[in-house]
Amino acid sequence: EEGSYDIEDLKLKDAQRVKLVKELLRKLILNKDEIQRVGEAFKKEMANALDEKSSSLQMENTYIPELPDGTEKGKYLALDLGGTNFRVLLLELARGEILREEFKFYHISDEARLGCGIELFDYLAECVKDFMGLEGIPLDAKMPMGFTFSFPMKQHSLHSAELVTWTKSFNCPSVVGRDVVKLLQQSLLKHGMENIEVLCILNDTTGTLVEGARLDKKTRIGMILGTGSNAAFLERAERVHHWEGERHNEKNVIIDIEWGAFGDKGSIDFIRTEYDKEVDNGSLLKRSFTFEKYISGKYLGEVCRVVLKDLCDKRLLFTKASKDLFPAPWKFGTDNVSHIEEDAITGSNTSTIKVLDKFNYKFNVDYDEDDIKVIQYAAALVSYRAALLVSICTAVLLNRMKEKDVTIAVDGSVYKHHPRLKRWVKQLIKELAPEKEFHLMLAEDGSGKGAGLVSAIAERINARNAA
Ligand code: GLC
Repeated sequence: EEGSYDIEDLKLKDAQRVKLVKELLRKLILNKDEIQRVGEAFKKEMANALDEKSSSLQMENTYIPELPDGTEKGKYLALDLGGTNFRVLLLELARGEILREEFKFYHISDEARLGCGIELFDYLAECVKDFMGLEGIPLDAKMPMGFTFSFPMKQHSLHSAELVTWTKSFNCPSVVGRDVVKLLQQSLLKHGMENIEVLCILNDTTGTLVEGARLDKKTRIGMILGTGSNAAFLERAERVHHWEGERHNEKNVIIDIEWGAFGDKGSIDFIRTEYDKEVDNGSLLKRSFTFEKYISGKYLGEVCRVVLKDLCDKRLLFTKASKDLFPAPWKFGTDNVSHIEEDAITGSNTSTIKVLDKFNYKFNVDYDEDDIKVIQYAAALVSYRAALLVSICTAVLLNRMKEKDVTIAVDGSVYKHHPRLKRWVKQLIKELAPEKEFHLMLAEDGSGKGAGLVSAIAERINARNAA
């Protein structure tokens, strides 16, 4: 099995140390059987969710029945909430193209992210107000808006959705179960913007799928591999049973899987290591979003830190270090994992040394070349496991589609910045869905651009259904 990993074998001066490190970290390596079981569990939970049976997956009906058709036009405001930053945008579309995109980032304080919720929505409204001022748009202007809200939702229509649970670094408990579009409209009203109409609410994966479809007509899947991770795809409408309101002969509909929650009911506990348990225990929302904690940017650094700490405790790493310099929980970001992995590409140690410098570890004083190799090996295993898990689910999705040739639109910091992950994902999907031709396409800023495109699609559908 290990042959299929293009991870350099661990070679150290001390053969006993090699043996012990490998033994300890073996649990991060999935064997063929486990790979298959994860795929089967995912397939089953997808089907269960669509059939409205118990499942850890949301498989949320987004009520978006079509992709861009080249007629999208108009001026839209958009909000993008859910990643590291919050943005307000203004998008101008014509003939299905994006003519203009203006945006401004706003910082969300811990108090707003972890507070009572009303403050959060009031703050969003204040940001919109500021942005309108900068753009010279009168506060009482009639403006359509698209709201990218990248959290699990229970959707009732294109423009109505309740928050199921917060994820990533947000936790304002009083918002759970409330209609977030209503909360936003109320705050906008309170701040003098009564003519802004929220036409649609969408997930970043949906936005990425729609933006991807604008760039490449074969796009059927939108995926985010960033702070969080998730995918949306175009499903046949006949397979979707949960549908509030009238149907209008829709052929397809976009489904937001919320695969971050995969395993929350225990179906993939067989891959769960004590490292994963430790990360989960220290996380903001425990026992929730199990899968996301194996794969996304919010957590990969912490997984790696916990692994390295264990190696330290077992005297397999940093045995020379005089003082305890080890980073505190959550202080080892995923960017460090990406940097360490860069050395695998260049065949050097410079990037790893730079990372260790940041934490005040001195080369030849606190650590030596063998320590570097152990760190690189651990970072590679943690990264590869993430790539593999994402690939398993993506292959299941591809295999359930009737199209042979599908483009997958992807965005997110981990996908963009991890030096080897893209290549692994491509290789692994090929192995796991051998009958399919697929193409991974970077669709940057799908969460922003998608909000404009989906707003235009919403206007088109509303006009058609009213006629
Ligand atoms: C989390 C959210 C999901 C989002 C993903 C990527 O998993 O629950 O809605 O798509 O992060 O941002």
